[in-house]
Amino acid sequence: MGGFAELGLSSWLVEQCRQLGLKQPTPVQLGCIPAILEGRDCLGCAKTGSGKTAAFVLPILQKLSEDPYGIFCLVLTPTRELAYQIAEQFRVLGKPLGLKDCIIVGGMDMVAQALELSRKPHVVIATPGRLADHLRSSNTFHIKKIRFLVMDEADRLLEQGCTDFTADLETILAAVPAQRQTLLFSATLTDTLRELQGLATNQPFFWEAQAPVRTVEQLDQRYLLVPEKVKDAYLVHLVQSFQDKHEDWSIIIFTNTCKTCQILCMMLRKFNFPTVALHSMMKQKERFSALAKFKSSIYRILIATDVASRGLDIPTVQVVINHNTPGLPKIYIHRVGRTARAGRQGQAITLVTQYDIHLVHAIEEQIKKQLEELPVEEAEVLQILTQVNVVRRECEIKLEAAHFDEKKEINKRKQLILEGRDPDLEAKRRAELAKIKQKNRRFKEKVGQALQRQQKAGRAGRGRQLPRLQRRPQAQPECP
Ligand SMILES: Nc1ncnc2c1ncn2[C@@H]1O[C@H](COP(=O)(O)OP(=O)(O)OP(=O)(O)O)[C@@H](O)[C@H]1O
Ligand SMILES: [Mg+2]
Repeated sequence: MGGFAELGLSSWLVEQCRQLGLKQPTPVQLGCIPAILEGRDCLGCAKTGSGKTAAFVLPILQKLSEDPYGIFCLVLTPTRELAYQIAEQFRVLGKPLGLKDCIIVGGMDMVAQALELSRKPHVVIATPGRLADHLRSSNTFHIKKIRFLVMDEADRLLEQGCTDFTADLETILAAVPAQRQTLLFSATLTDTLRELQGLATNQPFFWEAQAPVRTVEQLDQRYLLVPEKVKDAYLVHLVQSFQDKHEDWSIIIFTNTCKTCQILCMMLRKFNFPTVALHSMMKQKERFSALAKFKSSIYRILIATDVASRGLDIPTVQVVINHNTPGLPKIYIHRVGRTARAGRQGQAITLVTQYDIHLVHAIEEQIKKQLEELPVEEAEVLQILTQVNVVRRECEIKLEAAHFDEKKEINKRKQLILEGRDPDLEAKRRAELAKIKQKNRRFKEKVGQALQRQQKAGRAGRGRQLPRLQRRPQAQPECP
């Protein structure tokens, strides 16, 4: 395999790679860097942790060194923490250039950001919402001469999940020049390929890693079938056993809502596990601080919503636990990709309740691999069951006293007003939607129970396989 020099990169960049311990290019870097250096648009789809960031950072730095000006490159990414991580890669690899970068994300001081933008940084790394706000409200900077537009986690930026970037992307795309190089990267590009191809029209080069399985080979993927009511006891048991068996350990636990995330964080802390939370109801400073404490291993457990599911590169993470089964295979792929990065080993454990079995089948179908059951000593879980349930209830009461739900409601109303929508009308719509969902869920539960009864009767010789329910998952937005 050739080194970085053979990809057409200058010697100073090859030296930067060497200093960072990047000796050989990864396949996505081998595939994409020469095409980007040739001036082509690029769509790169490769597994999590395979080095997609350097695949766009390196050729951009090379081109910048040939013709330096600001603003040369705009990188868009769905989350604030990821924007900081990408900026760090630019900074480290671009050190000899004296690279000036600027991070434009929500939750931070807008005036300071405007000032930084007006100083013409070489690279701007932004989340779409805040950058669009600056474009709408200020004329002290422009992005009409950028040479590169990068969208990291491009499929997430284009899909209409819980955070919908459509309007902000329209504002941004109207402000960038038609003559530019567009680079789109993700581990899951294929669903949104058609929309993405509309953005990359300059001799687009599509690179996709060919592999029989869509998740990383070094990842040991397990499921644990647990009744909904004892899920937390299993979680505590898993964390405890992992702590007992390992000296140096780090775990990320994913949950489906901010409230569950907060409650479980409080609960795990009550059991003396060094835990920090990361979700969108936290202030930005708290979010950065939690992540920094986790990265430096001061805290060993990060409990997060899907705000942490994409892109974050924390090499020490050995285990990912899904407290809820992800509603979409794509979300599963990104969540479990927080471990087993860059050739390391890792384990992913998904807690599956009786209602989520069809979701596991959809995941298995997409990733082209069957999850294996994780053996657990049920008697040990039963011993802690009452204690865990009592502690959880105490945490719920404490959180209710802190008016968590009200704060969330106020935040939501503020956001809707900012978007020019009527919060009362939206609340009415939401209530109706919730009613329909509840009805659907009840119906699903009934069907599930009936099918399970049938299968139990006829399953005697099939071992401990997950029962097969042939139903597709409902589309569930990626809601951080
Ligand atoms: N050529 C290389 N050799 C060794 N390690 C590398 C190389 N390129 C990148 N890495 C390291 O691999 C890790 C993962 O890289 P990166 O975050 O770019 O992955 P990714 O493909 O963007 O993953 P995700 O889909 O989760 O965003 C980083 O720690 C990075 O420093
Ligand atoms: Mg990435």
